[in-house]
Amino acid sequence: MADEVEVIRGLRGVYFDTTSASFVDGEQGRLIYRGYNIHDLAENSSAEETFYLLMYGQLPTTAQLEEFDKKLKGSREIPEEVISVIRLVQNAHPMDVLRTAISALAGTDPSSDISDMSVEGSREKGIRLTAQAPTIVAYHHRIRQGLDPVVPNSNLGHAANFLYMLTGTEPTANESGLMDTDFVLHAEHGANASAFAARVAAGTQADVHAAITSAIATLKGPSHGGAAEEVMKMAIEIGEESAAEKYVSDVLGSGGRIMGFGHRVYKAEDPRARHLRARCQKLGEERGDPKWFRILSRVAEAMEPYKARGIHVNVDFWAGSIYHLLGLPEDIFVSIFALGRIPGWTLQVTEQLSNNILIRPLLKYEGPEDVEYVPIHQR
Ligand code: COA
Repeated sequence: MADEVEVIRGLRGVYFDTTSASFVDGEQGRLIYRGYNIHDLAENSSAEETFYLLMYGQLPTTAQLEEFDKKLKGSREIPEEVISVIRLVQNAHPMDVLRTAISALAGTDPSSDISDMSVEGSREKGIRLTAQAPTIVAYHHRIRQGLDPVVPNSNLGHAANFLYMLTGTEPTANESGLMDTDFVLHAEHGANASAFAARVAAGTQADVHAAITSAIATLKGPSHGGAAEEVMKMAIEIGEESAAEKYVSDVLGSGGRIMGFGHRVYKAEDPRARHLRARCQKLGEERGDPKWFRILSRVAEAMEPYKARGIHVNVDFWAGSIYHLLGLPEDIFVSIFALGRIPGWTLQVTEQLSNNILIRPLLKYEGPEDVEYVPIHQR
């Protein structure tokens, strides 16, 4: 084994392909979807429009958006077989349920398998999954509480319908607007771990359901999507704003990490965080429950010195408290992230398929060589 082989652990800083999907500018703290700045999209676009932009590469016309919306609404139902699977695994973590149900959907989708690996066919599968996944999360949420599922309501948009299916009550415009913006902000983020997992699967010519199942499995960890859940647990543990500073110094002093801070690519502020920060503050005031915003603000203040080391607030820091204020339980936070990201994963898969190559890096071997094999009875 040549000693001079360079090992780049975690593929840190490695470019493995080109993309026209999104630009995560870690130095400047910019995020671009298909050329559009995330700030413009967060303020002016909707989940449906942003999903279209990502999956088709350009903003839709009114007619195109209407057709896309119709397609999403027409695909929200999930088959009885998949509802049975959800019932079977209802005691599992919601991400495990989502992953299992999407895997099960592969068995019921009209063309889930590799018989249609075209870019167009794969995009259609991704659109169906975008529409079906909120139904899975909401049905599971109700089934595990012993409640009947609330069937999708085609009078409601993507975000509003998701909240409606969770609670059985139509959300206010403010609540659905919050969820809508959250979906916009989470829709795409380059070659993060879950998108990379999706691309690795697509690189082997596995189908969209396989790729998105891989992505969901990868998103689950607290270093990736699981952070929002951990942030809210942290806020609850801190309990009151005056305890935030000590909490931070205790965690850091014992070599721990503060969840919702730091990012592999962003060494400046995560541009998505500010939109959620402002909304978290507003929602807390409206609900007469400003405590979580205040606790988290104090955590952020205590982390100020870490900015010099490139450790800033990331998107998950404020997201958790918004979901909490919307009355959602912590264990579905990462599933909500997944719902927002399915269009991005779909786009990563179709981009991979449009110029496919097997993704297969190397491991530098550092184990022994020439070890003599000893038969089992002589060991
Ligand atoms: N709190 C405290 N210190 C942190 C930190 C955090 N949240 N994130 C990174 N650091 C420190 C590490 O301890 C390390 O310090 P050292 O050089 O003294 O050992 C340094 O910053 C680099 O960390 P590293 O793990 O090598 O960076 P990374 O690019 O691999 O990690 C994350 C990126 C996201 C995994 C990491 O920042 C993290 O664990 N964050 C918390 C979880 C989170 O919020 N994830 C959601 C991401 S959107």
